[in-house]
Amino acid sequence: MTRPITVTVNGETRRLAVDPLTRLAHALRFELGLTGTKVGCDAGDCGACTVLLDGRQVCACLVAVGQVDGRSVTTVEGLAADGALSPLQQAFLDHGAAQCGICTPGMLMAASDLLARTPSPSRAQVKDALAGVLCRCTGYQKIVEAVLSLAEDPPHAPAPAAGAAVGARLPKVDGAAKIAGRAPFGADRAPADALWLRAVRSPHARADFTLGEVAPLFDRHPGLVRVLTAADVPGHNGFGIYPHIKDQPVLAEGRVRYRGEAVLALVGTREAVYGIADEEIPIAWAAKDPVAGLAAALAAHAPAVQAEHPDNVLARGLVRKDDVAAGFEEAHAVAEGTWRTAFVEHAYIEPEAGYARRIGDELELWVSTQSPYMDREETAQVLGLAPEKVRTIPSACGGGFGGKLDVSVQPLVALAAWLLDRPVRCEYTRPESMQASTKRHPARIRARAACTGDGRLSALEFHGDFDTGAYASWGPTVADRVPVHCSGPYVVPRVRATSAAVLTNAPPSGAFRGFGVPQAALAHEGLMDMLAERIGMDPLEFRAVNALRAGSVTATGQTLEASAGLPRCLDELRPYWRDSRARAEAHNAAARTLRRGVGIGCMWYGCGNTSMSNPSTMEVAIDRGGRITLYNGAVDIGQGANTVMVQICADALGVPVSRLCHVMGDTALTADAGKSSASRQTFVSGKAAELAGRDLRHQILRLTNASEDASIELDGARVRVRDGTACHDIDLGHLPAAACGEVLRGRGQFDPPTTKLDENGQGKPYATYGFAAQMAEVEVDPELGLVRVLRLVAAHDVGRAVNPTQVEGQIHGGIAQGLGLALMEEYVPGGTENLHDYLIPTFGDMPEITCLIIEDPEPVGPYGAKGIGEPALIATAPAIFGAIHHATGVRLFEAPATPQRLRAALLAHAQGKA
Ligand code: FES
Ligand code: FES
Repeated sequence: MTRPITVTVNGETRRLAVDPLTRLAHALRFELGLTGTKVGCDAGDCGACTVLLDGRQVCACLVAVGQVDGRSVTTVEGLAADGALSPLQQAFLDHGAAQCGICTPGMLMAASDLLARTPSPSRAQVKDALAGVLCRCTGYQKIVEAVLSLAEDPPHAPAPAAGAAVGARLPKVDGAAKIAGRAPFGADRAPADALWLRAVRSPHARADFTLGEVAPLFDRHPGLVRVLTAADVPGHNGFGIYPHIKDQPVLAEGRVRYRGEAVLALVGTREAVYGIADEEIPIAWAAKDPVAGLAAALAAHAPAVQAEHPDNVLARGLVRKDDVAAGFEEAHAVAEGTWRTAFVEHAYIEPEAGYARRIGDELELWVSTQSPYMDREETAQVLGLAPEKVRTIPSACGGGFGGKLDVSVQPLVALAAWLLDRPVRCEYTRPESMQASTKRHPARIRARAACTGDGRLSALEFHGDFDTGAYASWGPTVADRVPVHCSGPYVVPRVRATSAAVLTNAPPSGAFRGFGVPQAALAHEGLMDMLAERIGMDPLEFRAVNALRAGSVTATGQTLEASAGLPRCLDELRPYWRDSRARAEAHNAAARTLRRGVGIGCMWYGCGNTSMSNPSTMEVAIDRGGRITLYNGAVDIGQGANTVMVQICADALGVPVSRLCHVMGDTALTADAGKSSASRQTFVSGKAAELAGRDLRHQILRLTNASEDASIELDGARVRVRDGTACHDIDLGHLPAAACGEVLRGRGQFDPPTTKLDENGQGKPYATYGFAAQMAEVEVDPELGLVRVLRLVAAHDVGRAVNPTQVEGQIHGGIAQGLGLALMEEYVPGGTENLHDYLIPTFGDMPEITCLIIEDPEPVGPYGAKGIGEPALIATAPAIFGAIHHATGVRLFEAPATPQRLRAALLAHAQGKA
């Protein structure tokens, strides 16, 4: 049923002929092409779809088009006048308030509503007015700062001069497009004739099934074009991160191993594929009791989740150094515990989306991804094609955090487009995204540590079981990475650390900002606090005594040559720590109901893959017109890789950053820079970008025999090289050119120097490590079991802050995710499959954050830089747990510390059971 509807959109009269029950968000996107309005949940939970209706903010996914007849709607596209950013948008750009940018249109519209009524709002008013919009990247602080700044003169930093880009607070090079709502995300672009695909997923965690006759579906739903099953896959019906473990079916073959596993795919018109209820599909299920959790999976006679792994252990890890028993024997104090963590959902605000189209004997894939080259290979092997036959074009990525390293829509749309020779698109719904995608591994960790009377660590024993779900994904990576990191950023002379990735009937656990290290950090930091308490030492000073530093030897026998800045982090943190601890103790001494506490967490994190090659290649070219283009394969998932690569390359080349154009991630145009994970892009791809810039610079200088010290100036199609008093002009138009007009191309490749670990886990697993110390100040309501984090101070050694604004943004966002891990986030299959029941931190949950950036240069890194993406998160939960103990005397061993858990622990403590 359609009826004509007239609505003023961004000042223009628009007529719609749609069902009046159509959601406004869908009408804006599909009928009017205004894709700046995003859909993150379609349920009123995320606020990504926020627009103004007659000047007031509404969730466009909750408004029916029939309700807007005769009214006025403003979307993000209506904010910019004549193509220029509005002052609010400019403030977002200048303050780094947009990272991935998927929430940004909603934030801007909510802020516009506020500012129209309250031009000079308070901080509390900003947080309140924007509270309905979720952001998973920024930790909200820079968004608040951007809105507040409008009452002041906006800080327009001058563009950095040639050679001065590294270290500058350069606005994101792709920021304006995101803030204007122009950047196309996975769901924002598809050929006009694209069919839609919807995967039908298992409602059971463990079941066998048979598929009946699907022909009646076509009769009942004329828009249905094809039903795809496992039998339609022309290549290998399996995918997975490891070349030798492609264990997850694209479409299940008679058996499912987790709730949410794809069973078949419906392809047709949008109305048809979403109009078919799952109950209509003739699937006969034979459900079985699932293997739920680590204990069930490791129990004697447990059913095997995968027949190839009868004991349900997918992978194991080990680091062994010296005689641990001797270390415990000579110890003055010993601490031990068992820690547990839950499944954690990535909750990126952009659900998985993309399209595929067949072009002759090749396939083009447009998708929101962290790993275009891996997508290319996965998709090619599913289709039985050579990888070169698949081209991946990454869309803007609305958050990844590790969750978009694994393929999602890619093999499905590729299969459909290949077989039908029609473009096919797919957008996961929010519940589908949460059911189907990977999670952070739940962990069960048993650990004990010992120290001498003067506070020196003497031994650590650790075993961690990690629930890796039904399929491998990154389980082996977690099993490898955890034993290397589980002794924390400390000198521990004797270590025995083991791990296991355990298969269960749960969603695959994959990569999530830290690969198991955040879970392990809860254990090692808990042990540090307990040992410090046992020997009567201040927790910060205990860590300072044991901190790794340049010259220290790690548990894997690696000598840290340089850039081990934990001691400096602790030095910077110390004044805040002493002051805050004293204030909290004074507060508690006044016997108030609400208790205050201050805790500390430290971390280290190896940048890049563990003990294996992970090269990156970058290229930069200049054409006959003097246009310089950086061909950057390092996907920007919001962390700012685009901007960082341009800054580094421009300085290496010796030209202003504004002269560089930029192509990102397209596998047909850029070289393989590896995946955006493991905190490797700034360090690894940044180095490759530096080398590419230097290579092009050498080639230019060689044309004039100029020395290394010469400067390069660009003037249209001429390059002027000044070398002392000499000055040479190069007319680019006279140089031999490729068909595309390119005359010179520089190339840089970097593979961090690591070694394989031996049978005892000894070796050099990473070329460099990020270090941090964070302090959390909390307020606990013992009656309710509620924890409010009041303040976070985060000292991070990043080697060199290529872009301090972005470094701070990573720290803020990491802290938000660490806070969620500590206090609220727990994914329960069948229970918390939406953003209403699954809680992530909002504006109201976030504390004031102080960033202390330490620059202890990494000699191998680009201009001394190393990674910050994952280090930002790891220390937060331990610091919060330490603060809860300081406030209440209760030591927690299970995350998240929900009110029920904390209340139970407080009661047990009061009764002397804990
Ligand atoms: S898409 Fe409307 S609130 Fe999430
Ligand atoms: S910038 Fe807010 S969700 Fe990514």
